[in-house]
Parts: sequence; structure tokens; C-alpha cells
Amino acid sequence: HYNTDFEGKKVLITSGPTQEAIDPVRFISNHSSGKMGAAIADAFANSGAEVHLVLGVGAKKPKNPHIKIYPVRSANEMYEAASKLHGKMDICVFAAAVADYAPKNIASEKIKKEGDGMTIELVKNVDIAYTLGKAKQAHQIHVGFALETENEVFHAKQKLEKKNFDMIVLNSMRQEGAGFQLDTNKVSLFFEDGTSIDSEVLPKEQIAKMILEGVKKIPVKI
Ligand code: PMT
Repeated sequence: HYNTDFEGKKVLITSGPTQEAIDPVRFISNHSSGKMGAAIADAFANSGAEVHLVLGVGAKKPKNPHIKIYPVRSANEMYEAASKLHGKMDICVFAAAVADYAPKNIASEKIKKEGDGMTIELVKNVDIAYTLGKAKQAHQIHVGFALETENEVFHAKQKLEKKNFDMIVLNSMRQEGAGFQLDTNKVSLFFEDGTSIDSEVLPKEQIAKMILEGVKKIPVKI
């Protein structure tokens, strides 16, 4: 299953969870396994693309040995790595589950158990896809994801527009066989021109191929 559909293209993919430190032993994170991002990275690499994968801690690694991996921990680190690469890329896929907020202060020592409750003050993280979306060049294609629990289509379309994506991949937490951790996913692709495509529940490798087919449908703007 090798082809040359994306030969000569440089592809940036973010994948996996971010970890936002609370103190030296604790963090805030989410359930992303990196399976979806790894499948997309392999699909592009097996289609001749030069793939750069910015990968959260513990996230699944792709199989194709030519993929360049940039390990990161926090949303800030993910942003640093992605923004250094962005200018040279042709296609960017934002598959990572990035923490929207991080602790305002990281305690330098392990926080002691004192009192019956505690409060951690959080501050907003950089939105990687939104920030790079503002720097998107005419020849570049940006693909985003939306992970939703309610009002799925509305939120996905809002993110498509706000983050300047050319296509957004919606997966719903309400859908059996879709989302975090699983080897399968069920998605809808929404394009800028208002069209959309729905998938069945399929292995993430098949979903990745469908996403690549979606990218091929995006009109080149040059
Ligand atoms: O890793 P798996 O276990 O295989 O699961 C796959 C997945 C469910 C994580 C994946 O398919 C997915 O949906 N990834 C995006 C999850 C997410 O954070 O969605 P969101 O709706 O919160 O974010 C919208 C988009 O903005 C995403 O493209 C996200 O990468 C991006 N974003 C969000 C916040 C932020 N600070 N920076 C970003 O770049």
C-alpha cells in the first residue's frame, strides 16, 4: 500500500496528549493515545510525503521509519516545535488533544497534603491550530480535528471557521467506536465549501486514508 500521491509534500502532524505540570510529580492531561495521529502520519509517509510528527508523551509512534518525530510534553512545547516547522510545510494536520488550560504556577516541590480541599489556578494555553492558522500561507492546507460531546456539527463548523482550517474531522464522544484510545473511529469531514463526508466505524488506518482522500479534494489556492 505505497503510492506517490503526496510525493514532494511536507506534512506536519501534531498528535497525542499534552501534559501540564502541577508540581514535579503531577500533571493535567487527557486520554489521547496518539493512535489517530500515528495512522495519519503513516498514511502520508506511505504516500511519499516528508512527515514531521510533533508527539506528546506516551503517544503511539508510527511504523514508517522515515517519519521525523519531535517529542514534546506541554502545549507550549508542542507550539514551539510546530511553529518552527510550520513555515516550510505544505499540509498541517492538528490531531493532538491539547490542554486548553495549564496551572498558572508550577510548584517547585511536591505539593503537601494539607487541609480538606485545594484550588489550582489555571491559565489559558496557546491555541496551536488557531495561532498557526493566522500565519497560513496561500499554498498551505490546514486540517483540524474536533472532539465533541454535544452539539457536534455546530461546534465543528465553528472551529473550521475560527481556526482557518480547510477541512475539519469531527469525532464524537457520543458515538460508539469513535474517539480516544480505541483502534477504530467514526468521523465526519467538513470542508470550507460547506460539503461533508461521513464515515462508518472503521480502523483508524482506514479513517486516515479517508482523511488523505479528503485533503486531495481541497482546491489549491495558487
Ligand atoms: O489519540 P487517540 O486516542 O487516537 O484519539 C484521537 C483523538 C480523539 C485525540 C483525535 O481524533 C482528536 O479528535 N484530536 C483533537 C482533540 C481535541 O483537542 O479537539 P478540540 O476540539 O479540543 O480542538 C480543536 C482543534 O484545535 C484540534 O485540531 C486541536 O488539535 C487544536 N487545538 C486545540 C487546542 C489548543 N490549545 N491547540 C490546538 O492546536
